[in-house]
Amino acid sequence: MKISVLTLFPKIIESYLNESIMKKATEKTQLEFEIVDIRLYSPYRHNQVDEYQFGGGKGMVLMPEPIILALESIKTDKSIVCMTTPQGKVWTQTKAKIFANKYEHIILLCGHYEGFDERIRKYVDVELSIGDFVLTGGELASLVIVDSIVRLLPGVIAVDSHMQESFENNLLDYPVYTKPIDFRGDLVPEVLLSGHHANILKFREEQALINTIKKRPDLINEVTLTESQLKLLKQIKK
Ligand code: ADE
Repeated sequence: MKISVLTLFPKIIESYLNESIMKKATEKTQLEFEIVDIRLYSPYRHNQVDEYQFGGGKGMVLMPEPIILALESIKTDKSIVCMTTPQGKVWTQTKAKIFANKYEHIILLCGHYEGFDERIRKYVDVELSIGDFVLTGGELASLVIVDSIVRLLPGVIAVDSHMQESFENNLLDYPVYTKPIDFRGDLVPEVLLSGHHANILKFREEQALINTIKKRPDLINEVTLTESQLKLLKQIKK
């Protein structure tokens, strides 16, 4: 997989992708990152990339030429072009899984200032938002998206970690414990020390459900719950 990020602030992107798991991912797998500085594609004097908007209004708008020229220099038939904006479809774990499995080349276009000239949207396949709030630019949004895709690529992190993580089966993760067994009188649940795998599994399943009901009841979809989870849900609701 190749992931290209088009940005006015390449250093922000570089600093994250050159650290820790993101960097290791490029060493351990076929993943390749490409960072494209939009400013270098400006046909204007002083590498200008933004202008006042026609019709009046506050703030600068990103002009089409630098962005489209940068995009055309890297796009192939295998690319999906994504633009990060607060107007996009909200990014979720389900979308991260689809992107990780489906696309060979993901291009992320980061916005800034008051937004993109509307005509840029014609060159974009999908607009993505990371939530209903407004950031000063699309770099953090792109990094959130990249991180959530890359950690799902085979060989980046252990497969079991994915099976127990939040949002698998629409449930939050179960609580986990480590040493010491007694922390200021707060004890690790006994079942986890029992070595009884079936009971541990049952306990974790229950805890994931309880956690989700308490913290994110909006995630509970009764249609996708198993028989035993539905039974437990009824007991908890009583
Ligand atoms: N750019 C500014 N705010 C954003 C958001 N919430 N999601 C994606 N891109 C953005």
